[in-house]
Amino acid sequence: MAKWNTFFGPIIEGQFSLESLDEWLKTNRINYTKVIVLTDSNVNKMCLPIFLGELKNIGKTAIIEIEPGEASKSFEIISQLHLALLDNQADRKSLLISLGGGVVSDIGGFLSSTYMRGIEHIIIPTSLLSMIDASIGGKNGVNINKFKNLSGTFSSSQGVYIYPNFLKSMNEKDLISGFSEIIKHAMLSSKSLWNDCINCSSTSEFIDLISKAAKVKIDIVEKDNIERGNHRFSLNMGHTIAHAIEYFNDHNISHGDAVAAGLWIESEIAFGEGIIDRKSVELLQNLIDKWWPRLDLQNMDIFQGMIADKKRSSFSKGFYFSLWVGVGKGAILTLVSKEKIQKAKTLYAHG
Ligand SMILES: NC(=O)c1ccc[n+]([C@@H]2O[C@H](COP(=O)([O-])OP(=O)(O)OC[C@H]3O[C@@H](n4cnc5c(N)ncnc54)[C@H](O)[C@@H]3O)[C@@H](O)[C@H]2O)c1
Repeated sequence: MAKWNTFFGPIIEGQFSLESLDEWLKTNRINYTKVIVLTDSNVNKMCLPIFLGELKNIGKTAIIEIEPGEASKSFEIISQLHLALLDNQADRKSLLISLGGGVVSDIGGFLSSTYMRGIEHIIIPTSLLSMIDASIGGKNGVNINKFKNLSGTFSSSQGVYIYPNFLKSMNEKDLISGFSEIIKHAMLSSKSLWNDCINCSSTSEFIDLISKAAKVKIDIVEKDNIERGNHRFSLNMGHTIAHAIEYFNDHNISHGDAVAAGLWIESEIAFGEGIIDRKSVELLQNLIDKWWPRLDLQNMDIFQGMIADKKRSSFSKGFYFSLWVGVGKGAILTLVSKEKIQKAKTLYAHG
């Protein structure tokens, strides 16, 4: 079992992580008036019985369920959830547990940091993407219209408990979707994780990469807690294009699949800028093509989606990207012309 103490709270990973949560509850449950579990309908069916079965000390809980999917990250749902907490007599001394993928942890993080000006929160990530990315780093977000994560807060939790066995009920498509963020972490910081990614031949092997991939994200966010410094921006690699793709698809595409295409195109842009060698770009693009079919982006106005990205820094001369420098070497912020962006997108569409 791995344990990291971070700025936003402890993170515990491994097959005994739920035992560790149960130990924590044994001492701390008494301090909470209510425990409310927020989940989505898939996770309710697949993971909640296992979760509650492992926790002898959780006591009485209320369950609040949302619809799975990005559409739930809206203010309408957030206000319904505030009222649902009230219906369940949650007060300032209640504990919210988010059990689910990145959608549930983003909503749970926002809810717990705003309900009655803040209640305590525990995150139990159940998707691959949330285990290695969304549950780590204290960020949450809610979409407004087509603008992704336009509203959100930084918030701490009492703990993030990563229990890899939950992945047994995930379908292949969602597992592959989460693999894109593992690849991104490997590209940024870890030669050993990069080699693991290249050598992976089945989704069942992803489970062995969780600890290393989570550690990469922890190391980056710990250097730059609330994104005022010069480290977190590297995590945006692949995301400028990914957010444009999500915008173009009205968010009816999984975040991880959009990131995979974003990494492909942005690595081509990095090559066009002379930042990275051809061999590394080909290795990455072959890896992405091994796991994902190319998306049909022919009719996508890439710039419209990028203008809608809240993280954009655009000037008449072009757009800023976090561009890959090489395996384990991080990313650098670079201003790229519209022509070069368009060229990389065309190569993706026709390559
Ligand atoms: N806050 C952050 O730092 C951060 C970072 C990255 C991504 N995100 C956000 O995370 C979201 C994407 O997360 P995601 O990919 O986990 O999506 P998700 O939460 O929609 O989960 C994907 C699907 O898997 C299902 N699922 C989850 N766990 C399961 C399990 N164990 N068994 C069966 N089904 C399961 C869900 O019901 C859903 O249908 C996006 O909204 C993205 O913006 C946030």
